[in-house]
Amino acid sequence: MPSVFVSTNPLLFGRGTSQLVGEKCKEFGMKKVLVIFDKGVKNAGIVDKILENIHAAGVETVCYDGVQPDPPDWSCEEAGALGVKENVDGIVAVGGGSSIDTGKAAKALLTNPPPLSQYFGRGMLLTKPGKPLIVIPTTAGTGSECTPGGAITDTKNNVKTNVNGLGAAVSLGIVDPDLTVGLPPAITASTGMDALCHAIESYTSTLANVYCETMGKEAIQLIGKYIVTAYKDGSNLEAREGMMKASTLAGIAMLGPMCHFPHDVGKVLGAKWHIPHGNACVMTLPQVLEMIAPACPEKVRFIAEALGAQVPAEATPEEIGKAAYQAAQTLMKTLKLPTMKDYGLKLDDLIPLVADEVIKALSMAVKFLGGFPAPIPVTPETINEIVTRAYNEN
Ligand SMILES: [Fe+2]
Repeated sequence: MPSVFVSTNPLLFGRGTSQLVGEKCKEFGMKKVLVIFDKGVKNAGIVDKILENIHAAGVETVCYDGVQPDPPDWSCEEAGALGVKENVDGIVAVGGGSSIDTGKAAKALLTNPPPLSQYFGRGMLLTKPGKPLIVIPTTAGTGSECTPGGAITDTKNNVKTNVNGLGAAVSLGIVDPDLTVGLPPAITASTGMDALCHAIESYTSTLANVYCETMGKEAIQLIGKYIVTAYKDGSNLEAREGMMKASTLAGIAMLGPMCHFPHDVGKVLGAKWHIPHGNACVMTLPQVLEMIAPACPEKVRFIAEALGAQVPAEATPEEIGKAAYQAAQTLMKTLKLPTMKDYGLKLDDLIPLVADEVIKALSMAVKFLGGFPAPIPVTPETINEIVTRAYNEN
């Protein structure tokens, strides 16, 4: 099977780089930009600094502040329509994955007619390049600054889908760790674990190759080293920078090999029960690590050790799996991540619905990917086992 090496968009990385946004808007020839964000980022004081910087460069702005979690199609259409009405010649999206993904969809709608639903799905590439999009993440997690697609909620069918292709692509990501300093501990944990899942799932994917494995391993090590410090002491800049680097590397890592079980299940939990993406994805991580260990024991050993486990050299694949399970579960408890029960979910509601939805989504994705990313067979029984164990054990 051919390997997929994805060359992502340009990224500017480093402390203070968000203060170059106005200059970059000018370099892209923008005279009037649509700035997309949510009220939380605005209240944190981040947006005002960005707007000031853009204005100082002589570029006009129009604001869309209605970004929603798990961006629904209607909100993306609102943002796109505002951009069309105001005849903007570019977009700056500031915030977490939801703001950035709303920015990607709005970009598509600047040069493609609504409704957005006609562009949903991996087979539906938006091929027109469109107007420039600068994205500025304020969380260390989604990696959306370097992925070519945006995750959108199809509100008619109540499922997560995506928009892809040149017409929704990022022109420049500005990754400034300083912007994450004020993130509350719970969001630091949730978004950081999303990045960890990206790195682990793509590293253990059957579609992994040396390019993404290199990125994924570095991201796993950085997160193992820094996530607890970033969670406990948000002002620790070394930890914040390490997490931001990890999140971007993990975003690049997952581009070719894609994610598997934790994200497959997490996306269903997000779409049906509106559980924040990172929390939803990490809910099954310990069980998945244990169950895939016999298929890729050395990779799972690397993960277990990066998360702080001591794994004897002669450990069997099952023992390696158990060590990784315990390390992931300990980390989740340290970060006080909510469980399925904390969200009031009932096992009877999850089984078999989650498995049915995952299989349905994957049957479409496999056509695009050419194979299943998961290192063990994807069956309803396996998914039911993962979900049941996660519900009872975490
Ligand atoms: Fe994710």
